Order: sequence, then C-alpha cells, then structure tokens
Amino acid sequence: MEIIVVKDNLEGAKKALEIIKEGMEQGAEVLGLATGSTPEPLYEEIIKSDLNFENMVSINLDEYVGLDKDDAQSYHYYMDEKLFSHKKFKETHLPDGKADDLAAECKRYDQVIEENPIDIQILGIGHNAHIGFNEPGAPFDGATEVVELTESTINANKRYFDHVEDVPTEAVSMGIGSIVKGKKMVLMAFGAEKAEAIKNTLEGDVTTDVPASILQKHDDVVVILDEAAASKLSEKTLA
Ligand code: PGA
Repeated sequence: MEIIVVKDNLEGAKKALEIIKEGMEQGAEVLGLATGSTPEPLYEEIIKSDLNFENMVSINLDEYVGLDKDDAQSYHYYMDEKLFSHKKFKETHLPDGKADDLAAECKRYDQVIEENPIDIQILGIGHNAHIGFNEPGAPFDGATEVVELTESTINANKRYFDHVEDVPTEAVSMGIGSIVKGKKMVLMAFGAEKAEAIKNTLEGDVTTDVPASILQKHDDVVVILDEAAASKLSEKTLA
C-alpha cells in the first residue's frame, strides 16, 4: 500500500490523474468511479486534461434507490454534470435506482462489472469507513445489492438535499467483493472528519465493522490524503 500525503484536494486530484494517465498508458480500459465531494476536483482535472477517454468504459459504485436519472440529487445527474457531459467516454455505467425489479438490476450490474473488469477504482470513504454504500457489517465478498443507508451516511449526505427527509434511505451499491476485484485501488480522503475512518482503515483490524479495512489485503492500493485526513496516522504508517 502506498500512502501519499498532499497539501490539499487539488494536489490530491492531480496525483490521482497522474495514476489514471499512467494506467491508461499501460492499457487500462475500465475506470471505476465514485461520487461525493472527494472526487470532484479529480473530475475537474480530467476535464481540463487533454487525456482521451473515448476508449474508456466507466463503472460507478452506486446510485440512490428511487431517484430519477434527471433528478438533480441522483448520481446519474452528478456524473453527467461533473464529468460525462464534458469528457466523452466509450460507455458509462451506473446502477438504475428506479428499476422496477431491483434484484434483477443488481444482477445486471454485476454482469456489467464481470464483462468489464475494473482496472483502476477511484474510491472516497465515508465517516464510518464505508466504500461505495457498503456500510459497516457489509460482507467482504458481497456483490451488487440494495443496501440501507446508515444514519451517519444520511446525515453526511443531507447537505445535498433541502430536507433530511428527502435523502433516500436505500441505494444500489456495488458490493465490496466486486470493488476489490479491481486491479488498482485509489482511495482519496480529505479533511479532518475523515481522519478517524482513515486511521481505522489503515491501522485497525481488517473487519467488516470498518468496510474500507479490506483494502489492507489488496495488493495494489494508493491512498491519497491531505494532512488533516492523515492526522491520526502513526509515524510508522506514514514512513
Ligand atoms: P464525500 O463522500 O466524498 O462526499 O465525503 C464519500 C463517501 O461517502 O464515500
């Protein structure tokens, strides 16, 4: 595991872009993408760059259940606005949170992942160390599933909604088992509110109570942190 501490999220975004660029030079064809505030600067850097994504497939981690693709809070909308309407990809995939049969939708999404093995997976992390919407307790070998969001996640995400009651309580999320099949993981975390989750993820036991801790077992992980997110790590971890 490589840990890179950067000045701020812009420098972090530039590092992540470098990793993507190198990956593409080495033949990466499938990029796993995340939503939330963490990857936003990365998407801005991708847009500004002259990198060509026209041969690249993207697969997103998750989508809220019950929101239309054109709902401004949906992750479809987020991805279109922040990236896809500015940079052309070969194919882009997100789960359909409005599918009539969500169980079938989860199966379909797993098939998409199976057919397009992820080369580089971009990850943010929740305050409770979730990756995707895999909340504490989610199985390490899980596939795509409808998951219930914890109160901590609903509270963290309410900033995007007018009322906390508007935050969906469920999402379709790629499972941890599918995520860690990706060849390379790039986990980014910025800000003091992520410091505890990062400490538990990198220095604690590998346990489903800390979903991101499974990354300790992955053989190609880059963690990009600002100083605040790295502030609880021991010198040994940072050495
Ligand atoms: P954030 O969310 O990037 O908005 O902090 C990360 C996450 O919940 O995975």
